[in-house]
Amino acid sequence: MLSNRNLLVTGGSRGIGAATCLRAATRGFRVVINYRTDENAARHVYDSIKTNGGDAILVQADISREDDVVRLFTESRRQFGALDGLVNNAGILERQSRVEAITAERLNRVFATNVTGTFLCCREAIRQMSTKHGGRGGSIVNVSSVAARLGAPHEYVDYAASKGAIDALTLGLSKEVADEGIRVNAVRPGFIYTDMHASGGEPGRVDRIKDTLPMKRGGHPEEVAEAILWFLSPDSSYTTGSFLELAGGR
Ligand code: NAI
Repeated sequence: MLSNRNLLVTGGSRGIGAATCLRAATRGFRVVINYRTDENAARHVYDSIKTNGGDAILVQADISREDDVVRLFTESRRQFGALDGLVNNAGILERQSRVEAITAERLNRVFATNVTGTFLCCREAIRQMSTKHGGRGGSIVNVSSVAARLGAPHEYVDYAASKGAIDALTLGLSKEVADEGIRVNAVRPGFIYTDMHASGGEPGRVDRIKDTLPMKRGGHPEEVAEAILWFLSPDSSYTTGSFLELAGGR
């Protein structure tokens, strides 16, 4: 089932981003799969979409770099036309640490991708989507985290703070563009089985925590992708500035 609805997913080569790309393609989106370094993993997602009759392109870009972001959205528009959806999924965290040990360099790295990169992607998407600019509207979904309200003490308060910024962006931007055909919402996952936890120095983090969660299990990327797809779809047409939590009840 192909359509002319175009979706860009940042960090689409693995984890929640890859699950979102794959699921979106089965719902008829043409998917722009952004990746930063792992071309092989991104190509695997691309091949799966193509094999199942969907349409996609791959675009390398580091979203923490403004020139890369501009090139990403220019290339997307050149190949598919204006976007209908954007999933700001790319995000990083660094090794578990107390605040007293965090350096300015680390803060700048985390905020450059998680906050500045997400803002820049929103900016470029609005320029393509806004009815004010002659666009046909669209839906932006930000991938925040339950860390935004839990704070991630002893692990990564910097990461949690960056996701707090994403929540504020979601609220403010949703109101700014609500009458220009653009909806802006966010998912707040928590404890999802992906490779991100290895970056924090604890690949088995979800299994350590799972018994403390009300649902007594970790989540799967597909469960987050489904919520993202709902925000992208017309089924959520009267919803903007909203948050959907996927954290097993925590
Ligand atoms: P992941 O580490 O598997 O995926 C993140 C993706 O973003 C990777 O493909 C990575 O290459 C990409 N990326 C990172 N920096 C980038 C940059 N500057 N430019 C382009 N791409 C970049 O992790 P996961 O879990 O799939 O994370 C996806 C999103 O979900 C992130 O925003 C993360 O903060 C969020 N999240 C994940 C949770 C979990 O338990 N796994 C919980 C809450 C939020």
